[in-house]
Amino acid sequence: EQIQAFRQTLLNWYDAHGRHLPWREDHDPYHVWVSEIMLQQTQVNTVIPYYERFMTRFPTVGDLAKASEADLMKAWEGLGYYSRARNLQKAAGQIVNDHGGKWPRTVEGLRELAGIGPYTAGAIASIAFNLPVPAVDGNAFRVFSRLLEIDLDIAKPQTRQVFEKVISRIISPDRPGDFNQAIMDLGASYMSAKHPDSAHSPVKAFNQAYLDGVEMQFPVKSKK
Ligand code: ADE
Repeated sequence: EQIQAFRQTLLNWYDAHGRHLPWREDHDPYHVWVSEIMLQQTQVNTVIPYYERFMTRFPTVGDLAKASEADLMKAWEGLGYYSRARNLQKAAGQIVNDHGGKWPRTVEGLRELAGIGPYTAGAIASIAFNLPVPAVDGNAFRVFSRLLEIDLDIAKPQTRQVFEKVISRIISPDRPGDFNQAIMDLGASYMSAKHPDSAHSPVKAFNQAYLDGVEMQFPVKSKK
């Protein structure tokens, strides 16, 4: 039915038009994790060269765990939000020392690592471990609030749970990582915040807010 058709339309579009990005070349949790942390406050095009250099300097989680502070800061210089880099190294130490070099393979286990919040845990779990869990960031709030006309205030902490529940029902059980990344690509293109192009969107038939002529009213976000 509707959900099946949406999944299929989205994934067909992603297969043909999804972005080819260096961290999408494989599903190594180390690659997924570092890219997701870099992408939290930084644009894709800025992240690409940083990501490439980082993987050259620190090819494995073990290399990152034993890196010097100076080398780490040099690799991060210009990306800003340096606590991200410090947490990255702290989590690398947790994986090496507390987990014998093995990644936790559940959302709950991932959440115990430094710097890994609900979004990043969902991204790693779905992309690296193929678990059918949502990865709810600003993109997902925007895309699903428009598709389904969800008018809950995304500034309220309780709203995340509602979106997680809704997306959990819609996510592809076969290709959850691709599903989540397709939503990111949609949110960066046809369903962008300021200049959406829903008339040409592959999922326009599923975009209730667009069909009703109210897409710019979503997501609803109060000022704090
Ligand atoms: N933004 C956050 N995560 C991303 C990913 N995996 N691909 C593209 N953009 C993203």
